[in-house]
Amino acid sequence: MEAWSRFWRQGHTTTFGDYFDKGYAGPVKEWLDTLPQLIPPSQEPLNVLELCCGNGSLLPFLFSLDRTFDYVGVDAAEVALPSILQEPVRQASGTVSLLANTPVEALPESIQDVSLCLSIYGMEYSDLNITLKALHPRMRSSGQFFALLHHHESIVAKMSRRAVSEYELSDIEHIRDALTTIHETMVRVGNVEALKADDEAEKARKFMNGMGNKYLRGATLETGNAFMADHVMAALRFFKLLGQAPDTRARFISELVEEAQAARERHQQMLSVAKTAEDMETLAQHMNTIGWNSPCFNALTDKDGIIGWTLTATA
Ligand SMILES: C[S@@+](CC[C@H](N)C(=O)[O-])C[C@H]1O[C@@H](n2cnc3c(N)ncnc32)[C@H](O)[C@@H]1O
Repeated sequence: MEAWSRFWRQGHTTTFGDYFDKGYAGPVKEWLDTLPQLIPPSQEPLNVLELCCGNGSLLPFLFSLDRTFDYVGVDAAEVALPSILQEPVRQASGTVSLLANTPVEALPESIQDVSLCLSIYGMEYSDLNITLKALHPRMRSSGQFFALLHHHESIVAKMSRRAVSEYELSDIEHIRDALTTIHETMVRVGNVEALKADDEAEKARKFMNGMGNKYLRGATLETGNAFMADHVMAALRFFKLLGQAPDTRARFISELVEEAQAARERHQQMLSVAKTAEDMETLAQHMNTIGWNSPCFNALTDKDGIIGWTLTATA
C-alpha cells in the first residue's frame, strides 16, 4: 500500500494526477455524466460511498451534480483531501469524510444504507469476492452501484505494460550512485568551483549528461523510453539543489529512487487487476449469486481505444 500512500501524499486528485489534476475529465467524465439520468430524483440527500477513492477522486464529479449528498470515501492507503477540494468541501451542504488506511473488504459498521456506490479504477484492487459480498447488505434496497474497472486491453493497460518493460534498474542505480558522489563531494569540498575540480564528481556529472543524451535527446513518445525519460528529467533537477542544505539533497536522492520503484509497483498492480471479458463475465455471475440485481458490464471506448469496463448493478 505504500506505493499508493506515497502517490496520494503528493496531493493528486486522481490516479492520472498529471493529466487530471482537478478530478476526472475526458471519457471517464463523459461516462460519469451519463449517470445522473439513471439516479432517481429525490429530496433526500444521496448517501454516497466511493470504494478505493484515493484522495476523493469522485468528489469533483459529485460537486458538479445539483444534488445534496453525504459522502464517505474508503481507501486502504494513507489518503487525505487535496488542497483543491478543501474549499468546496467546506461549502458543501452534506457531509464528506475520507476513511484512510481502511480496506474495502472490511467496511466500518458505520457505513449503512448506501444509496449510491461508486468506484473508478478502484475496487478491482481489492478481493472482489469479499468486497462485493460485504458491500451488498450495506446498500439501501434498490441502491445503485456504478463502477469503472481496468480493462486488460485499455490504453492505460498498454501504457502500464510499456512502463514496466521500460524500467531500467541498473541505470536507476547508477544515477543514484552518480548523484550521491556529487552530493558527498559537495559536502566535503563546500563549493561549486571545488566540486568542478574534483575528478570523481566530474565523472559523475558526465555520466548524468550521458543519461540525458540516452533518454532525452531526440526521443519521441513512440520511440523513446517514457518511464526513464521522466526519471532522468526528475534526476537532473538535483543540480538545482547544489546550493541547498545537504539534508535536502540527500532526501531528494532517496525520494527519486523510491518514487521510481513505487511507480513501477503501481503499474504492475494495475496490470495484475485489469480484467478480460471472461473475468467480467465471472464477476457478473458472482454478483448475481450473492444477491445483486441485473449486474451488467460493457467496454467503454473512445476514439483512441478502450478506457475500461463499466459495471452497473442494483442492490
Ligand atoms: C488506481 S487507484 C484509484 C483511485 C481513485 N479511485 C482514482 O480513480 O483516482 C486504486 C486505489 O485502490 C486502493 N486500494 C487498493 N487495494 C485496496 C483495498 N483492498 N481496499 C481499499 N483500497 C484499496 C489504492 O490505495 C489506490 O488508492
